[in-house]
Amino acid sequence: MGRQGTGFEHSGRTTVTKKIGFLGLGNMGGPMVANLVTAGHDVLAFDPVPAAQDKARSDGATVVATGTEAAADRDVVITMLPNGKLVLDVYADLLPAAKPGTLFIDCSTIDVADAKAAAELAVAAGHRALDAPVSGGVAGAAAGTLTFMVGGAAADFADGLPLLEVMGAKVVHCGGSGVGQAAKICNNMLLGISMIGLSEALVLGEKLGLSHQSFFDVVSTASGQSWALTSYCPVPGPVPASPANNDYKPGFATALMTKDLGLAANALRDNGVDGALGALAAEIYTRFNSEHAGLDFSAIVTEVRNRSDREGAQ
Ligand SMILES: NC(=O)c1ccc[n+]([C@@H]2O[C@H](COP(=O)([O-])OP(=O)(O)OC[C@H]3O[C@@H](n4cnc5c(N)ncnc54)[C@H](O)[C@@H]3O)[C@@H](O)[C@H]2O)c1
Repeated sequence: MGRQGTGFEHSGRTTVTKKIGFLGLGNMGGPMVANLVTAGHDVLAFDPVPAAQDKARSDGATVVATGTEAAADRDVVITMLPNGKLVLDVYADLLPAAKPGTLFIDCSTIDVADAKAAAELAVAAGHRALDAPVSGGVAGAAAGTLTFMVGGAAADFADGLPLLEVMGAKVVHCGGSGVGQAAKICNNMLLGISMIGLSEALVLGEKLGLSHQSFFDVVSTASGQSWALTSYCPVPGPVPASPANNDYKPGFATALMTKDLGLAANALRDNGVDGALGALAAEIYTRFNSEHAGLDFSAIVTEVRNRSDREGAQ
């Protein structure tokens, strides 16, 4: 990566330096900011937590005292926040402070309805907006290999793309406003259902005398194959890098999967979809989350096993 004229080269292309405001410097936002700075962009960053501020400062961002300072006179404002209510609250403060035509990109995982409302507020205030949630987790944020699922107008997507490519390895324009969040929610609903289904099959195999390795050797190349099994196997052994081999340290925490399944369950209900398994997956993870929020979501296999053992003992 090197300076070329008025811009910086990234992935073999030249990217014009942008003035960016970034709010939310947590597990995901922190490393995303570091990658934007490394790519040569001018980043004003804000987070109320001092440790997050210190980290962003040491990564080369200019940390400011308020969100509105981070949003004033910027080309692009990026948010990476815990939930939709916060995104809407923050937008109410930022939109009047930003210069006309600022591109707002929200990368948080939030309700489709909240994402659409945030974009409508931005447009009504004379700005432009994209919803651009991510998958790839903290490791992907650090490596700059996130997948972005983007909703919004084609011209705004084209404008935001060079920045998203700094933070991600894959960027998909999924459709209009809110459709990026729709892609995220659909994917994670399927992942949650698939992890529970896999866990039930593994525990059934245990009861029937099938070893984890034999299960893996057959199913990983048979019709029951899934990403949950081949990349993220929820029992120790067959996939050495999976959290099951590390006492279920996340990875992708149960608290985050529970949040995403809650968003999916809302969307199923709001849109009249007969999504029995999605709704049940949300219930199962909500129950598991009440005591195990900090464990990786693949630890659901231990819940299936423990509940099966208790039922078997009755
Ligand atoms: N962690 C993951 O693996 C992961 C993966 C994909 C998507 N996500 C999504 O990304 C989003 C962020 O996740 P995270 O893990 O970084 O969460 P996090 O809790 O680590 O970070 C959120 C940050 O937002 C800050 N914040 C709160 N209010 C603020 C405000 N008014 N202005 C500026 N900053 C404010 C918090 O202080 C915190 O540092 C969430 O929506 C999450 O669902 C997370």
